[in-house]
Amino acid sequence: MANDIHIHKGPLVIGAGLAGLSVALNAAPQHVLVLAPVALGKACSSAWAQGGIAAALSPEDSPEAHEADTVAAGAGIVDPLAAKTLTEMGPAVVHRLNDMGAPFDHKPDGSFVLNREAAHGLARVARVGGDLAGKAILETVVNAALTSPHIDIWENAFALGLIKSDADTVIGALVEHQGRRIEVYAPAVVLASGGLGGLFAVTTNPAALRGDGMAMAALAGAIIADPEFVQFHPTGLDFGKDPAPLATEALRGEGAILVDAKGIRFALEDHEDGELAPRDVVARAVHKARSSGRGAFLDATKAIGAHFPEEFPTVFASCMDSGVDPRTEPMPVAPAAHYHMGGVKTDIYGRTSLRHLYAAGECASTGVHGANRLASNSLLEAAAFGERVGQAVRGIDIEMFVPDVTAALRPETPPQLDAVDLKRLREAMSLHAGVVRNETGLKTLQRLIGELEARYQGALALVNARLIADCALHRHESRGSHYRSDYPQTAAEGERTFVRWADLDKTTRGDATACISPACLTY
Ligand code: SIN
Repeated sequence: MANDIHIHKGPLVIGAGLAGLSVALNAAPQHVLVLAPVALGKACSSAWAQGGIAAALSPEDSPEAHEADTVAAGAGIVDPLAAKTLTEMGPAVVHRLNDMGAPFDHKPDGSFVLNREAAHGLARVARVGGDLAGKAILETVVNAALTSPHIDIWENAFALGLIKSDADTVIGALVEHQGRRIEVYAPAVVLASGGLGGLFAVTTNPAALRGDGMAMAALAGAIIADPEFVQFHPTGLDFGKDPAPLATEALRGEGAILVDAKGIRFALEDHEDGELAPRDVVARAVHKARSSGRGAFLDATKAIGAHFPEEFPTVFASCMDSGVDPRTEPMPVAPAAHYHMGGVKTDIYGRTSLRHLYAAGECASTGVHGANRLASNSLLEAAAFGERVGQAVRGIDIEMFVPDVTAALRPETPPQLDAVDLKRLREAMSLHAGVVRNETGLKTLQRLIGELEARYQGALALVNARLIADCALHRHESRGSHYRSDYPQTAAEGERTFVRWADLDKTTRGDATACISPACLTY
C-alpha cells in the first residue's frame, strides 16, 4: 500500500521530552508538528530524572565555576563553547521554568533549595519535591505545549527514517501513526528522540529508548559523535526490574554511603571523594564490588533515615514496592546505562552535518558532556539547547519549501529485532560494552551484531550497537565513561570521535567542523 503524504509547513520535531517540547515552544510563531512515540509526558527519560537541574543559582556560585566542573567531569574532551553556552544559560533557563510554573523547592527567603551532587564543587542542583524534578518540569512544559496554538502533537507516532531530497538535504521523515505509514515533509526536521539506554540489559531509561534518532541520522549520512561514551549510573536499584529504578545521586549528596554485604564502606578505596567522586569512578567501584562477590548497597539509614519518604518519595516507593525499607536497611545497587554523551554531531544551534536536520537533547552531541556528563546537566541541556534549536528553526522560510515528493529519497522501513534477539543484544551490550570493556569482549559483541545484521539488515538498534561497539574497540585508552581494562591509561591528548555510518571501518578523530558545510548553516 502506498504511504500517505503529509506536507507540513513548519518544523517537524521527533520526540516529546523536555528537549523536543522546548524546541516546539521556542519555535513560535512557526507551526510545529511534534511526534510523541507514546502518550505525551510518558516514557521519556526527562520525566524520570530525579536529582534536578544544575545551574549557578546561589550567590557563592557562578557560570564559570559550573563550566569548570562540567569541563573537569568531561575528562578532556568537552567542547569549550558548548560548556560555556550551557552554563551561562543555566540560571535564566531555571528561572524561566520556574516562571512557567515548575514547582521548584524554595527556601523561606524565596531562593532555590540546592542539592550537592557528585563532581559539583558546591550545591547547585535545583530540585522539586525532593526527587520529583524531571516529572514536575516535564508536566510544566507539557501543559505549556498543550495550550500553545502553534503546536500540533501526534501521539503514538514514531519516525522510522529520514527522507532526503539529495545526499545532504533532509526534507522529512517516514512516520508510523495510528497504523498508517505517512511521509511527513517539513522544511526543518528536529531529532529530539532521547537516549539509548534500552540497548543495555540494565538501564534506568525507558526500555523502548534505543537511540532511534541517532540511528536514523547515521543511516541518512549525518556525522555521529562519540558513540562509545555511554554513562552508567552507579546506583540503579538492583531489584531485577527492567528498567531499573534509579536511586538518585542526591542521596549520596545527602550523605548516603556505599557498602558491601558486610557493611564495609568501599567507595573511598578508589577515590578520595568516595561516593561523590565522578560518576564513572563510582560506577566502576560498584561494578568491582559486585563482580568480586562483595556485593554493593547504598546505605541511607543514618544520613536520611526516617526522613526518606518526604525527601525522596520516588526512591522510597520503588524500594517499598520491592520489599526494602531504605529507612532501616541498605538498598542493593548496580550500575545501569543512564545517559548517552554521544549522538548526532551538532553545533550550539543544534545544526547537524545534513541540511535542515537539527538535533537537541540526549540524541544530540554538542560535545558539552565530553566523556562523562556532570550530574543534573542533562535536564539543563535539554531545556537550554532545546530553546536554542527552537530559536534556530523559528527563522526558516516556509514559503521556500516546496518538496518534490516524486523525487524524494525514502528510507527503507527498518526491521525490528524479535524479543529473543533483542534480549541477546541487550545482555551482550551490558556485558561487553558496559562499565568495563576490553578487546575480547567487544569482538564477541561485534560477532553477535554481525550475526543479527545478517537477519535484520538496517535495524535501528543494530546500527547503534555497531556504532558503540566499533568505536569502543577503536578507542585504545580509558577516558570518562569509556573504561578499557586492556588500555587503562588515558591518552595525553583527548580527542573526540566523529564518524559517518558509511565510513565506520575508518573511524576518524579530530575536528569535524570542516565536515559541516557552510551551506547547512543557512536555509
Ligand atoms: C540522579 O538523580 O542521580 C540522576 C541525575 C542525572 O543523571 O543527572
